[in-house]
Amino acid sequence: MKILVIGSGGREDAIVQKLHRDAIVSGTLDQLTLFAAPGNPGMAKVATLVQRTVEDLDGLLAFAKSESIDLTIVGPEVPLALGLVDRFEKAGLAIFGPNQTAAKLESSKAYAKAFMVKAGIPTPAYREFDDLHEALHYVTSIEPPIVIKADGLAAGKGVTVAKTVDEARQAIIAAIEQRAFGDAGARVVIEQFVEGSELSLMAFVDQHGFLMMPAIQDHKQVFDHDEGPNTGGMGTFYPVPAATQDVLQKVHDEVFSRVVAQLQAQNITYRGVLFAGIIVQDGQPYVIEFNVRFGDPETQVVMELLQTDLLSLLQAVLQDRVQTHPAYFSTDPTVCVVLTCAGYPQAYKKGLLIEGLESIPSPAYVLHAGTTLDDFGHTVTDGGRVLGVVARATSLEKARDAAYRGVDHIDFEGKHYRSDIGTRM
Ligand code: GLY
Repeated sequence: MKILVIGSGGREDAIVQKLHRDAIVSGTLDQLTLFAAPGNPGMAKVATLVQRTVEDLDGLLAFAKSESIDLTIVGPEVPLALGLVDRFEKAGLAIFGPNQTAAKLESSKAYAKAFMVKAGIPTPAYREFDDLHEALHYVTSIEPPIVIKADGLAAGKGVTVAKTVDEARQAIIAAIEQRAFGDAGARVVIEQFVEGSELSLMAFVDQHGFLMMPAIQDHKQVFDHDEGPNTGGMGTFYPVPAATQDVLQKVHDEVFSRVVAQLQAQNITYRGVLFAGIIVQDGQPYVIEFNVRFGDPETQVVMELLQTDLLSLLQAVLQDRVQTHPAYFSTDPTVCVVLTCAGYPQAYKKGLLIEGLESIPSPAYVLHAGTTLDDFGHTVTDGGRVLGVVARATSLEKARDAAYRGVDHIDFEGKHYRSDIGTRM
């Protein structure tokens, strides 16, 4: 079996390592060949790296054809929004991820909100605008905090929670007039702010049903106590107290069941992962965003919890039978702490030597994200989010201690991490 994983982050490293672990457990390692495009040095330990960017649809397709890849798994949203899945399917190649139409649930916030409203999915009230003056006028009529979202993909930077009308007006001007996010901000969604606990809930979704993964909580702000700008995610943990049985049942019934019914009603094919960003207020879950892919760093925790082999689940999705596929997730507390470069999410240095990767004390282990090898074969930084340290244990406190012991063993200039992952519920 030849599998190609597209992407180069911690999420993709978690997927590749899980496929490798599963093959060891089932004694099928000699039948598995893993490729990663473009991948990273962590993935290179178990996969062959392919020098193709995630936007290079022609190059990825040519590689998959020439290598007769049996299954391609898409990590990030950009190739999904560009229509990579449509291209692969047209060429008769198996690929895990939604097509371009379905990917609009992430690539257009306005489309996603309209979809939720049609489906009856609980979501904060909203309006959408592409006219600057109408948007500026509208925010004077509502109470802050106000959420301003660029409609298109903005690499996780397109959302502002404005505490004052003035801040909201600045965010609108930045998006629509100054094009801070390029064309992605030509239209904005203005949403009512809902206060509550955040949950990341991912499900495998196919034409006939879905299978929910454990609820995870991400810490988005760069500094402890949820201070500083939002990032792609600074760390994740499981279990999350806000994910009570009642809340999970509501997410099952009012979110994913309604998504699948609405996809069917609109004749939209969906085979992949759907990520619902949720706020729980007074026991009621509200969807604040959809992502059409595995979350990062949520996947790092979920792949550690998943005891069923991942490949069998992905194949069940592609054959529209995931709802009846057995899946077992450990209930052990698990933590992922993300290490970043100083300055992230703004400008940061690259090429900084990383030391200590080989001596991480068990049970913690490292997943690579923004790393590369220099001319001497040394691992150096190559992105804002550099590494993730994952640990599973019998209590959240032990999992946290183990992950942070792992973090302490790693060193690079300007190493930054949050010290409160798993303590803020
Ligand atoms: N952690 C949020 C995301 O993957 O978009």
